[in-house]
Amino acid sequence: MRLLVTGGCGFIGSAFLRAALSRSSVERVVNLDVLSYSGRRENQSELEREARYRLVVGDIADAALVARVFQEEKIDHVAHFAAESHVDRSLFAAQAFVHTNVLGTLVLLEAARGAREKGRFERFLHVSTDEVYGDLGDTGDVFRETTPLSPRNPYSASKAGADLLALSYVKTHGLPLVVTRSSNNYGPRQFPEKLMPLVVTNALMDRQVPVYGDGKNVRDWLFVEDNAQGIFAAMERGRPGEVYNLGGENERENLTVVRAILAALGKPESLIQFVKDRPGHDRRYALDSRRAHGELGWKPAVTFEEGLARTVAWYRANEPWWRAIRDDSFDAYYERHYGKLGLKEQPTA
Ligand code: TYD
Repeated sequence: MRLLVTGGCGFIGSAFLRAALSRSSVERVVNLDVLSYSGRRENQSELEREARYRLVVGDIADAALVARVFQEEKIDHVAHFAAESHVDRSLFAAQAFVHTNVLGTLVLLEAARGAREKGRFERFLHVSTDEVYGDLGDTGDVFRETTPLSPRNPYSASKAGADLLALSYVKTHGLPLVVTRSSNNYGPRQFPEKLMPLVVTNALMDRQVPVYGDGKNVRDWLFVEDNAQGIFAAMERGRPGEVYNLGGENERENLTVVRAILAALGKPESLIQFVKDRPGHDRRYALDSRRAHGELGWKPAVTFEEGLARTVAWYRANEPWWRAIRDDSFDAYYERHYGKLGLKEQPTA
């Protein structure tokens, strides 16, 4: 397998790189990452010593660069992670989401199609998200792979665009492509703008932790290493043209998650600050992952309690990693944007 991983300096991509390099079937891994704000070189620096591995810094929407990488490295597999992924950012700066998530995906699909036509491309794994399905509300059932896509914010709309574009290449160009849609990931190296690492790092600094709305929104939490294993299994064994939900089977209300983190850190619940709700805030996501269980033989292996303990321990042990991110510029960015959105300043209780 000569594998191109996009976004391998990010949170999920770097976990996948580690999983891929542990397999002997993988002859070469090239990581194409633009090293934007959330792509952290240190997430993969220890891998740079590995002879099978190469980091290329660049934009997936740069067609000439992507074509060169395909040609130089004789790429026959793609695992496509690179994406703008934070819903809150998509509320005030949606353009980057269309550029990377839609246009970047198109460029990769075209490169894979070109390689396929030359007879040397085997599998494209497109990493999507449960957020493309939209919102279950309080009482909805669960999302199945056949549930119509109904994204409700610019982030999920851009991911839905990418997801459908990817699937269209199966129909129109016969590209052997598989899509995974996973639930919320958590674990080491997640950029501290997302709920869990924001709460962990704020609490470690004895700062307030913002909970949107009533804190009763539900997410299904999947430990990042379990997702990496599921994605690898889908790339190896998934049927072309098929979508696989990868759910954590750990539905939790946000407030429950926040309380569990504070308890694990020995911090008081008085740090919780209820703030104005996120506009268009999806109430609940939950996935039916039976297809992945049956066809891929995949199931999450890490319990929520174990995953949370490992996550909290990692942030405790790797303070230089998050301190480098949570500097004055992070605070200035947060004040500027979250103040405007009301996600910081206007407590509801
Ligand atoms: P997030 O980590 O942004 O992931 P997503 O929106 O993709 O699910 O948010 C997870 C949940 O936590 C979501 O319901 C929004 C909520 N949330 C807060 O209550 N406070 C915060 O500061 C953040 C970042 C999120």
